[in-house]
Amino acid sequence: MIAGGAGYIGSHTVAELLGKVPDGEIVVADNLETGHKEAVLGGKLYVGDLRDDEFMERVFRENDIEEVIDFAAYSLVGESMTAPLKYYANNVGATLNLLKHMEKSGAKRIVFSSTAAVYGEPEQTPILESSPCVPTNSYGQTKLAVEGMLKWADVAHGIKYTSLRYFNAAGAHESGKIGEVHNPETHLIPLVLQTANGQREKLSIFGNDYPTPDGTCVRDYIHVTDLAAAHIAALKRMRERDESGVYNLGNGKGFSVDEVVNVCRDITGREIPTEICGRRQGDPAVLVASCEKATRDLGLEPRFGSLEKIVETAWNFHVNTQEVSV
Ligand code: UFG
Repeated sequence: MIAGGAGYIGSHTVAELLGKVPDGEIVVADNLETGHKEAVLGGKLYVGDLRDDEFMERVFRENDIEEVIDFAAYSLVGESMTAPLKYYANNVGATLNLLKHMEKSGAKRIVFSSTAAVYGEPEQTPILESSPCVPTNSYGQTKLAVEGMLKWADVAHGIKYTSLRYFNAAGAHESGKIGEVHNPETHLIPLVLQTANGQREKLSIFGNDYPTPDGTCVRDYIHVTDLAAAHIAALKRMRERDESGVYNLGNGKGFSVDEVVNVCRDITGREIPTEICGRRQGDPAVLVASCEKATRDLGLEPRFGSLEKIVETAWNFHVNTQEVSV
């Protein structure tokens, strides 16, 4: 079962599963509040909310669900600061109810979509999984709360979990059929590409006075298909070893906002006007993952390890789905 399988990372994981397991063995549950029905390229789609017991009973009754990948959550950091209760209700409430139904039906494994936001302002770079978790926004705090809940559900009910702490998910499916579509869009790469395309006049760069080589924030971008593959590897490991775990997922390389804009200029051949604005509240200067643990245990080998490849796929999707000016 893929919960939240109509969202950005969920839909790419469904796409990655297709061809690896029979279509009939994939169940997608999504309330389509932020997900897109047309992004679900296969499997059996159930439209409903994970907090709705009647809905969950139907999904679990009609399918023999052995394992779950859970993406269902709100994920706008800014919004999580103005509407924290909405974030707790959905992000904690949905997974809580999911675990309740897993326990009842005997489903034994879950891969959970966590985030680098659990670390907050890091004390060291690259960030290890053992680094202190001190979230600076309520989005990260809800994800950390679920990580805690998973630990105790394992102790009491033997439900094994893998929490995957994503750094900056980016890029789009190679086919160009699915990609990153948020409304409103707040993420850097789609915003830069919308500017390249003339849908936006200019890109606002949030601060150039950070303690980084060019003054702009540094992030670790990982391709969404590589993220998807890591979820499948995590399931496989849990099946083989019956062990829970927590992993960072990034590429272990940092790129500044300026560097991202320049790579986008190279790939698109467009000018991309920018303006320097004030810092965005709560943005750490540098977030780069240590990926050693995931590489060792999950055999992570990025297919799209370079920023150029990541941007190429994002631009391909953009050109495929939006009206691109010439
Ligand atoms: N940025 C700009 N201008 C924009 C948008 C973003 O300069 O218009 C900058 C941000 O300040 C940041 C970088 O580009 O330095 C990346 O910003 P994103 O919003 O794309 O991503 P974040 O690093 O803020 O957030 C990501 C995920 C979150 C997750 C967080 C973990 O999207 O879900 O990493 O810290 F919580």
